[in-house]
Amino acid sequence: MTQITRDALNQAISAVGAAIEAADPHGKAHGLRTLLTYGLYKLFDDLRGQKRAFDREAFMAGLRRAQMMAETHPVVLQAESPAAAAETIEVFTADLYSRCWTYYTDQEFLDMAKLFDKRFVMSGISLDLKGKKCIDLGCGSGRYVIAMADAGASESWGFDLSERAIADGTARAQRLGYSDRCHFQAGSVLELPFEDESFDFVSCNGVLHHTTDPKKGLAELARITRKDGIAYVMLYGSGELWWDLTDMMRSVMACVPRGYAFSALELLSVAPGKVFNYMDHVFVPCREVISHAEFQDRLRAVGFKSWQIMERGEMIDSAERKTLFAEDADLVGEADLRYVCRF
Ligand SMILES: C[S@@+](CC[C@H](N)C(=O)[O-])C[C@H]1O[C@@H](n2cnc3c(N)ncnc32)[C@H](O)[C@@H]1O
Repeated sequence: MTQITRDALNQAISAVGAAIEAADPHGKAHGLRTLLTYGLYKLFDDLRGQKRAFDREAFMAGLRRAQMMAETHPVVLQAESPAAAAETIEVFTADLYSRCWTYYTDQEFLDMAKLFDKRFVMSGISLDLKGKKCIDLGCGSGRYVIAMADAGASESWGFDLSERAIADGTARAQRLGYSDRCHFQAGSVLELPFEDESFDFVSCNGVLHHTTDPKKGLAELARITRKDGIAYVMLYGSGELWWDLTDMMRSVMACVPRGYAFSALELLSVAPGKVFNYMDHVFVPCREVISHAEFQDRLRAVGFKSWQIMERGEMIDSAERKTLFAEDADLVGEADLRYVCRF
């Protein structure tokens, strides 16, 4: 059997988006939009979690099924709708993520914290945080703040835009017995309230690409890192099929209130990790993807002189897929960017 091409997958993704818009030209069929985009997200996420080359036939079959469902849906004709209240990007982003964090139990939260260490170990990068002053920028409820404390940090700080995530993180740290070493503060990474060179280790995992000015965020991160310290940054790499799928989903879901989507996923008892991942990729207002070459230019511009790239991780990390399955190269593009940087 000949392999399904990236182009054929992209065409099928576009066809689903077009079929949904044809069925619902006024953006009223929230249920149809949520069901089909969540169904495709779930299928993709399950397939990319399998330790084998990406199953293109299964994904194509799912796309065809979604297209057929949209094409056989009655056309929704009503046009009027109440105007939604305007929100700033920061308010929207903070509310979106802080809601996602609250779904995790403390045990699930501790299990997620283990990922921090695992990715470094798998990539063969040793990181000694014993006695170090550390911070996680855009920490959410602080899974990596706890991980850094477990790794021996003398002070482990969490910093996030969302007051609610910071309150959740503070309460979790207290419940789990970390409040002596973990500290939390709310604010924006675009204007950090810390002195130059305040921290030995600065982590920023999946955050800068959701801000209105990723370059300024990187400059702030570099500013607060000690010149003999280390920074860890994770960003989205360009060129993945995932971005084509989620671009279509974002476009289809733009008319659906996020509260509706949260409620639908809750009603379906969707697991916290999948609620987070779906809501994150479908609703977050800012989402930049970047090449390694461009990111390395940005690192040089803020003074970093050397870096190690983490090429291993969880199966759902596109960098892990890129390392293990050469035949998926056309689907993963640049893959996730995970950098450990020094001055
Ligand atoms: C995808 S989550 C990643 C959370 C965490 N780093 C982790 O890996 O568990 C993105 C986080 O960045 C935060 N965030 C987005 N924009 C921010 C900004 N301008 N300043 C501080 N935090 C921000 C969000 O509130 C959210 O908690």
